[in-house]
Amino acid sequence: MTGGQLHHPEWAMLVDIPVVTEIVSAIFGSADFIVRSGGGDFCLPGAVDYQPLHSDMSDRRVVSTGQGREFTFGAFSDPEGRMNYRDLPCPYICCNFLVTDFTRLNGPTRQIPGTQHSQQSIPSLEQEPAWMKLSTVCPVPAGSVLIRDVRAWHGGTPNLSEEVRAIPNVEYFAPWFREPMPICLPYEVYETLSATGKARCRYIVTRPGEALEVGYRKYLGGTPPGSRSRPVDLDAMA
Ligand SMILES: [Fe+2]
Repeated sequence: MTGGQLHHPEWAMLVDIPVVTEIVSAIFGSADFIVRSGGGDFCLPGAVDYQPLHSDMSDRRVVSTGQGREFTFGAFSDPEGRMNYRDLPCPYICCNFLVTDFTRLNGPTRQIPGTQHSQQSIPSLEQEPAWMKLSTVCPVPAGSVLIRDVRAWHGGTPNLSEEVRAIPNVEYFAPWFREPMPICLPYEVYETLSATGKARCRYIVTRPGEALEVGYRKYLGGTPPGSRSRPVDLDAMA
């Protein structure tokens, strides 16, 4: 319901890991970055298709369904149309924590180097060259952290193994970047964090005593329109 998993204490523990903080601070040029959310993704055995290449963010766009409903995606927008989010310094980092090894067989993420600033359209599966399909981040041992500029093109690959490939994450915004952030961290869990962790989570914590509605929604999520290489059914997202 919150779009996140930070209500689980073991997830919240990931927001302030010293070595990750050091690296993310170096990338953003400041330690004053904030937590947007924490979630992640997984690839089950039997998921034998490629996830199309995509970006995890986009420029701001308002999409109308034609039935009086509107969805807003993204935040950055240049009214003069001279820049888009791909021209910015890195605004948004995702840290994926590997809880299993990434192998050639269990659906490792493929990541296309250097595409965070690319203005080209993201290739569909039919258009995607073989070298991109094979550009997997593997082998990587469990316990590693995959630190991504979420604008870079990436996607899941076939899981031909018999194990779940799961990568819980924590997502950070640069100190100068904001998008609407859903409240997803209960105050009781927030109280267990370090002073740094608390400061970093200040925009996503509930008020003391306020209940957080957690559970599952009908539409389980997907890649936002504008970040994907194939059309999206907005009605299914309601
Ligand atoms: Fe993604």
